[in-house]
Amino acid sequence: MIFEQLKQKKYPSDAAFDTIYPKKYQDHSARHFTPVRIAVKASRLLVDSPADRILDIGSGVGKFCSIGSCITGAQFYGVEKRKILTNVSNRIKKTHQLKNAHFINDDFTNLDFEQFNGIYFFNSFHEHFDETCVLDETSKVSLAVYKKYHENLMTKLNECRTGTRLVTYYTFKNKIPSSFRFIDANETKLLKFYIKK
Ligand SMILES: C[S@@+](CC[C@H](N)C(=O)[O-])C[C@H]1O[C@@H](n2cnc3c(N)ncnc32)[C@H](O)[C@@H]1O
Repeated sequence: MIFEQLKQKKYPSDAAFDTIYPKKYQDHSARHFTPVRIAVKASRLLVDSPADRILDIGSGVGKFCSIGSCITGAQFYGVEKRKILTNVSNRIKKTHQLKNAHFINDDFTNLDFEQFNGIYFFNSFHEHFDETCVLDETSKVSLAVYKKYHENLMTKLNECRTGTRLVTYYTFKNKIPSSFRFIDANETKLLKFYIKK
């Protein structure tokens, strides 16, 4: 079983891992969902203790939360505005008994970020910026929507408690408020780690 392998630090290829998802989401995975090895690295940066509560902003089919909760034992929460993707996430949670992964069907702006001491963000608003970034028929380019979500993200990140960890993937530094101190990036510079001042 794929989650047992993860616990034993045997990391499957993304193609092998993604077979847990319906075919149409397997086809989207390379562009829209975090690769297994990046999810492992990001989770380790975010989690210090099993009591930690980590939020994935725009959790898609739940790939990051499923992997992170499995390998760290901390509580991972994914907030996702598309109901169909939250349903896929909850089906995977049930099938694979992922007790520490939780999926909320909502807009991230409705959550209280002070509840979390770790945040993960994989450039979730890009579908409003780039017409090649299509997840489904509701994807729509609108610079006004893109700008509004990023402003909301800045506000929410500024509300986080001191010491909150933040890991971003494919996200420029200028999208993160100066209340977060940049700590490090991985070798490709795509994964960045910050801590709230
Ligand atoms: C690039 S995918 C990332 C998926 C997941 N974080 C992962 O790494 O595997 C971005 C997701 O963010 C969701 N999203 C975009 N804007 C959102 C919002 N305002 N609130 C909640 N989810 C949102 C999209 O529906 C999409 O599923």
